[in-house]
Amino acid sequence: MNPELIEQHANRLLGAMTGAATTAMVAVGDRLGLYRALADGGPATPPELAARTGAAARYLQEWLSQQAAAGFLDYTAGDGRYTLTAEAAAVLAFETSPAFLAGGATITRGWFAGIDRLAEAFRTGAGIPWHEQDPAVFLGTERFFRPGYAANLTTEWLPALPGVADRLAAGGRVADVGCGHGAAAILLAQAYPLASVHGYDFHERSVEIARQRATQADLDGRIHFETFDATGYPAAGFDLICLLDTLHDLGDPAAALAHARKALAADGTVLVVEPNAADDHAANLANPLAALSYAASTFQCTPAALAQAGGFALGAQAGPAVVSRLATDAGFSHVRKVAETAVNVVLELRP
Ligand SMILES: C[S@@+](CC[C@H](N)C(=O)[O-])C[C@H]1O[C@@H](n2cnc3c(N)ncnc32)[C@H](O)[C@@H]1O
Repeated sequence: MNPELIEQHANRLLGAMTGAATTAMVAVGDRLGLYRALADGGPATPPELAARTGAAARYLQEWLSQQAAAGFLDYTAGDGRYTLTAEAAAVLAFETSPAFLAGGATITRGWFAGIDRLAEAFRTGAGIPWHEQDPAVFLGTERFFRPGYAANLTTEWLPALPGVADRLAAGGRVADVGCGHGAAAILLAQAYPLASVHGYDFHERSVEIARQRATQADLDGRIHFETFDATGYPAAGFDLICLLDTLHDLGDPAAALAHARKALAADGTVLVVEPNAADDHAANLANPLAALSYAASTFQCTPAALAQAGGFALGAQAGPAVVSRLATDAGFSHVRKVAETAVNVVLELRP
């Protein structure tokens, strides 16, 4: 035994514990609007932040200290105030910022709540149906992916698909399959007022929430959310079918792609957005986001797929080569990577 390596592993775990604890503190700040109050009102002492938010100063004293120790806040010894810089606010305070991550971070609440159930699934090999996940998983998924879609979907990704934006602008038909709470479908309906936008998901509660989100966005009548499996929605000649961070959650992604092929208009396009991963497994393990992505895959994606008929469980880090093979088998002759972010890889599929 090498004592230095033991220390390295102990420090690695302490770092992981610190990350988990800090994420829980972020969830508290997010829930109480503390970041927003610091961003809007400027630097504050605990009593000043208490006056702004109604939260108890004694608790805030501990929370502010933790957040400063974690590096999110700057502490000024002279006046005892804590500052959230504009850069930190972009990540923690403003839901519409492209860098916003505090909402997505709350997904970890759902994972911790699911530990016992997951351990049991390891023993039996059985899946965990998506609808049996903790609700924090659904909301955290929406809030994790929405900033990336808002920053890229209609401004970067769709313009990279030849002809698609023009067709939607002229009133084409688009389906978002596995739409969850509807974040992407809503962005599409907002960007293309003449398009007919349909969101499909097999999870009834998500579809209900998507409808509420559409109402809040004043899009009633312009967007239609319905409960359908990825292999069972109407084959209505869509100009664009989106599968956004969904394909790897499906029990039968091959059947879903074959159905998308049938549901497309003659020269329609399928947009598949998947978690970004290298095709080479060893290389992928070195990705700085891999530990988080494999945790997401273990907690929610793989068990969700195993709970469905189909026999696939791609996992969240399958890589684009696997998806390309499935697409080719499903009858798409043209598969092309059109974009990527740190989080996502973006693929165009055409018949
Ligand atoms: C990771 S979430 C992504 C949700 C949404 N596209 C987003 O990016 O925010 C995966 C979604 O796929 C849905 N889903 C899983 N299996 C499905 C199936 N067989 N048919 C339809 N939807 C499915 C889940 O209910 C969930 O909403």
